[in-house]
Amino acid sequence: MTETELLDRALDAARRAYSPYSHFCVGAALLTRGGAVYIGCNIENASYPATICAERVAFSAAVAAGERDFDAIAIVGGREDIIAAGEPLGECPPCGICRQFMAEFCRPDFRVILGSPKKFSTYTLGELLPQSFSAESM
Ligand code: THU
Repeated sequence: MTETELLDRALDAARRAYSPYSHFCVGAALLTRGGAVYIGCNIENASYPATICAERVAFSAAVAAGERDFDAIAIVGGREDIIAAGEPLGECPPCGICRQFMAEFCRPDFRVILGSPKKFSTYTLGELLPQSFSAESM
């Protein structure tokens, strides 16, 4: 699966975001080392802190399906009008909680692909969350 294909899957997921409060849509497509893809979108709640981010929805779906070995995640985000119109998107970096969630299951070379299918950048989790706290820290 190419980075562009994974971003396309993330964009599809962003179109299914439930974000009536922020009107900001995020989609994530998580690629396992076995080649399977799990998707997630942000799901907001009237009790704002109960909201869950797209990335953690994708990881939760994958882990619940028995997956533990991950290669890359593509993340696409933007205002709902921009997502609906399919306009060019900037990068939507994962929040700190999502970076920590990724670090539980992924090595520092795990790829995080940000942007849009037309223009994107690839980072490693090690770049986005250096000196992370993990089981080895305890
Ligand atoms: N959001 C995500 O889905 N992922 C992130 O990493 C950052 C933020 C969502 C949560 C909320 O629904 C909206 O974006 C605005 O914060």
